[in-house]
Amino acid sequence: MSTPNNFHLLLFGATGDLAQRKLFPALYRAHAHDLLHPQARITAIGRSEPDTAAFLATLQQQAQNHLADDFNLQTWQTFCQRIDYLMLDVSQSQQFDVLATFAQSSDTVIAYLSTAPRFFADICQQLARVGLNTPNVRVVLEKPLGNDLDSSRHINAAVGEYFSENQIYRIDHYLGKEALQNLLPLRFGNPLFESVWNKDFIQSVQITVAETLGVGTRGAFYDRTGALRDMVQNHLLQMLCYTAMERPTSTHSDDIRNEKLKLLESLRIYTPAEVDTHAVRGQYTAAQGMNAYLDEADIAPDSRTETFVAAELYIDNPRWTGVPFYLRTGKRMAQKQAHIVINFKTDPHNPFAAVANRLTISLQPDETLTLRLNTKRTGSGMQSAPADMVLDLAAAANGRRMEAYELLLLEIIAGRLGLFNRRDELEAAWHWVMPLLERWQDPSAPAPQGYPAGSWGAAAAQTLLARNGDTWAENT
Ligand code: BG6
Repeated sequence: MSTPNNFHLLLFGATGDLAQRKLFPALYRAHAHDLLHPQARITAIGRSEPDTAAFLATLQQQAQNHLADDFNLQTWQTFCQRIDYLMLDVSQSQQFDVLATFAQSSDTVIAYLSTAPRFFADICQQLARVGLNTPNVRVVLEKPLGNDLDSSRHINAAVGEYFSENQIYRIDHYLGKEALQNLLPLRFGNPLFESVWNKDFIQSVQITVAETLGVGTRGAFYDRTGALRDMVQNHLLQMLCYTAMERPTSTHSDDIRNEKLKLLESLRIYTPAEVDTHAVRGQYTAAQGMNAYLDEADIAPDSRTETFVAAELYIDNPRWTGVPFYLRTGKRMAQKQAHIVINFKTDPHNPFAAVANRLTISLQPDETLTLRLNTKRTGSGMQSAPADMVLDLAAAANGRRMEAYELLLLEIIAGRLGLFNRRDELEAAWHWVMPLLERWQDPSAPAPQGYPAGSWGAAAAQTLLARNGDTWAENT
């Protein structure tokens, strides 16, 4: 294996939830598997700890929790030798002066902004002021990138004043999931699938990300965000891109991103009336001993924020004309599941087909491919019966599966942009989302439909499919 690139990571927001829960455990795992350059260093930047010793003490407690069996004290101690803590208030511009020393480094400097997006522009401006925007500097932006098209444009423009597009890594951690990336070789590397991956053979597609957790301690953030911005604008639309995009001419980052952009630009944009007929929003109510959304901490008592979204989308291009794509996501749903279901067409007059073929690509909890086939029912006579062919992707891969953040961090270190959103893609995704966002802000729009915590979401989501003669996968 070639030596990994050396780097210096400046991690802004190092005492925050994401850094402690995901980023440091990911870096630790990469360190433990010898995937980091021996001299690579991490400067953890935050406000709430006074010094390195205090920071590392808190970090260790968190890491032990999150790493569970992967935690090894000796390895942890060698990992900590890479880390210094810097107390810095990002709203105080003169405090950035200390970072000027890093500008002399000829190694890659990675400024990871795991902070609220309202600080992105100022941090970038300050980095540039102290000389940290030379071509060896990469800047990583965490979602949410804005709360609508305008604010997203504003952030991108502000960051773009100091960094060129190929220095900017916009994170969507779903792109770090192996089972999602696997869609590209699955679709384009296997003529078996590629030849039927279109409107002639596919009846409909379902993309679901269901979570069992509620909003937990994130009420204040969630209540001004909602499921449409938190999940659909990014994770679900990225899943859609990988499912439906055309074949890129190469595996080069921009070839992949160009195809994703084209796909997003082919999405049919809805009028307000179409939003009412093609999208459903829901909010969980108390059930099975779980709180209603409205009774969670930091939620406005009359909140109309959606905790569930289902939508029917159309892609206006020759491959997909007329094929409905159903997206669905929610908190407090019946099971934690993320999957893509491809429902193939069937011929009702075919005596050998008991069921339509169905390919399920599961991202979590398991990473599997399940192909529903027609087989002969055992015994005399010739009758067909459905049977599932299941491929365990993790077992087939025969190697350690990294968590999304570890894989993405290693891509950033290697300088590969393919798993990160380009500015135009992000804005195209917002463009599709905007009519829904605007309609749902209108007081005359139907209120979110209540659904019992622990269920499969708003009943209207069933009707959405039923009128096309379709059903959500868990009901078939
Ligand atoms: C995050 C959202 O982007 O994704 C969370 O902000 C959500 O609300 C999370 O819980 C889901 O990620 P995963 O990888 O657990 O499916």
